[in-house]
Amino acid sequence: MGRIYRVGYASALDGSLKLQGAKNSVLKLMAATLLAAGVHRLQNVPRISDVEVMREILAAIGAPSSWSGRHELEITVPAADELSPYPPVDLVKRIRASIVLTGPLLAVVGRARLANPGGDDFGTRPIDIHEDALTRLGASFEHFNTYMEVKAPHLEGADLVFEFPSHTATDNAIMAAVRARGTTVIENAAREPEVVDLAAALSSMGARIQGAGTSRIVIEGVDRLSPMNHSVVGDRVVAATYLTALGMVGGRLELAGIDFSIMEILIRKLEACGVSVRPVPGGLVAEAGPRPLAADIQTLPYPGVATDYKPMLVAMLSRAQGVSVVSENLFSGRFRYLDELRRLGADLISEGHHVVVRGVPKLVGGRVQAYDIRAGAALVVGALGAENETVITGIEHIERGYDGLVENLVALGAGISVEEE
Ligand code: EPU
Repeated sequence: MGRIYRVGYASALDGSLKLQGAKNSVLKLMAATLLAAGVHRLQNVPRISDVEVMREILAAIGAPSSWSGRHELEITVPAADELSPYPPVDLVKRIRASIVLTGPLLAVVGRARLANPGGDDFGTRPIDIHEDALTRLGASFEHFNTYMEVKAPHLEGADLVFEFPSHTATDNAIMAAVRARGTTVIENAAREPEVVDLAAALSSMGARIQGAGTSRIVIEGVDRLSPMNHSVVGDRVVAATYLTALGMVGGRLELAGIDFSIMEILIRKLEACGVSVRPVPGGLVAEAGPRPLAADIQTLPYPGVATDYKPMLVAMLSRAQGVSVVSENLFSGRFRYLDELRRLGADLISEGHHVVVRGVPKLVGGRVQAYDIRAGAALVVGALGAENETVITGIEHIERGYDGLVENLVALGAGISVEEE
C-alpha cells in the first residue's frame, strides 16, 4: 500500500514549462543562512521533500522558516549563541546534503554533532575530502558508531588541494572559509553551477570569494555576514529529465528558467542522440523525432556529463536506434535501476562500470520500483516510451527532488497520475 505513479505510453510531448530551482543548490543555500543572523529570503525554491526536511532541521537547531510565496522561503536565523550545534539524528540521516551543515555550524558555533549522513544509496560515499578540508581549516573530528563530533574553536584560512573535485566538500569548505581568519585557497574545487550559485549568494552576504566555477577558488575570511536575498539557480538535472523524456518519445519542448550554457556538454550528447536543443532568452527549446539515436556517454565531474543525468540517459537510449555504451565514473553502486528498466523490456548488459544498451523499438509497461531519486526519474522516462501501462512504486524518492513532475508531464500531453494503492 502506498502512493504510486501510473504512466501510459506517450506518442509525443509538446508544450512549455517553467523549470524549478535546483535541489542541489537550495539545500546548501539553506545551510548557508546559518552564517548570518537575521531574516534571509530565498526565491525560486522548489517544493520538494528534501527542502521540507532541511526546514525541519534548521527549525530544530533554532532557525525557523515559513513560505512567503509559492516558491519563496523566509528563514530567520538567531544569534550564534542561540543556535544548537546538534541537528536531530533522524532528520540528518534522511538527506545526504545535511553534511553541508558542518561548515556553517563550525564557522558560527564552533562545533557540530552530525549523524552519519543518509540520502541515496548508490555505493560507498566517503566524507574524507570534507574531513581533510575542515581539519586543515582548524577542525578536529571524532567518529562514533552512528555520528561524528566536530570542533573548531577557531578557523584559520589554509591551502587546500582536493584529491577529487567533490561537490559538497567544496560547498562545505567555502562555507567554513568565508568566516575563517585569513585566506583559503581550494585547488581542484568542484566547478558545478550550484557551487557558483552558493558563492554568489555568499558574496551578496558580504563574503569575499573569487574563482567559483573554476577549479581554483580563493576566499578571504570576513568577520561578519548579513542575510541573503537570493533566487535559486535552475535545476539542470530536472531539465535533463524533461529533455530525455522528449528524446524518448519525440515532440517539442520549451523550458524557461535554465541557462543553456550550464548544460552544454549534455546538450552536445543529446544532439548526437537526435534531440536538437537551442538557447532562447531565459531558457531553451528542444525538438526530437519519434525515436532517439544511439550514442556512447561517460559521466564525469562538471562540466562533463553529470552522474545525475545518467539513469535518464540510459532509459532514453534503451529505445534508441543502435547500441550505446554508458560508463559511470563517479558512483560505483549507481546501477540498481537497471533491473527495473529491464522489467520494462530494456536490453541492458552491465559490466563493471559500463552498461551496453541495445535499443529496442518500444519498451513494455510493467510494475517497477524507484530505489533513488534519479533512478525513479529514469523509470518515468522509460514508462513514457513503454506500451501499455507502467506502475512505479517508491515515488517518495522522486518527490525528494522533483516539484510538480506529474502536473508538468500532464501539461506536455503525457498520461501520468499519482494514485493511492
Ligand atoms: N568522494 C570521496 N570522498 C569525499 C567526497 C566524495 O571519495 O569526501 C567521492 C564520492 O564517493 C564520489 C565522488 O567523490 O565517487 C563524487 O562525489 P561528490 O562529493 O562530488 O558528490 P556529493 O557532493 O556527495 C553531489 C550531489 C549528488 C551528485 C554528486 C555528483 C548534492 C546534495 N548531491 O553529491 O546529487 O550526484 O554531487 O555531481 O549536491 C542527486 O541529486 O541525485 C545527487 C545524488
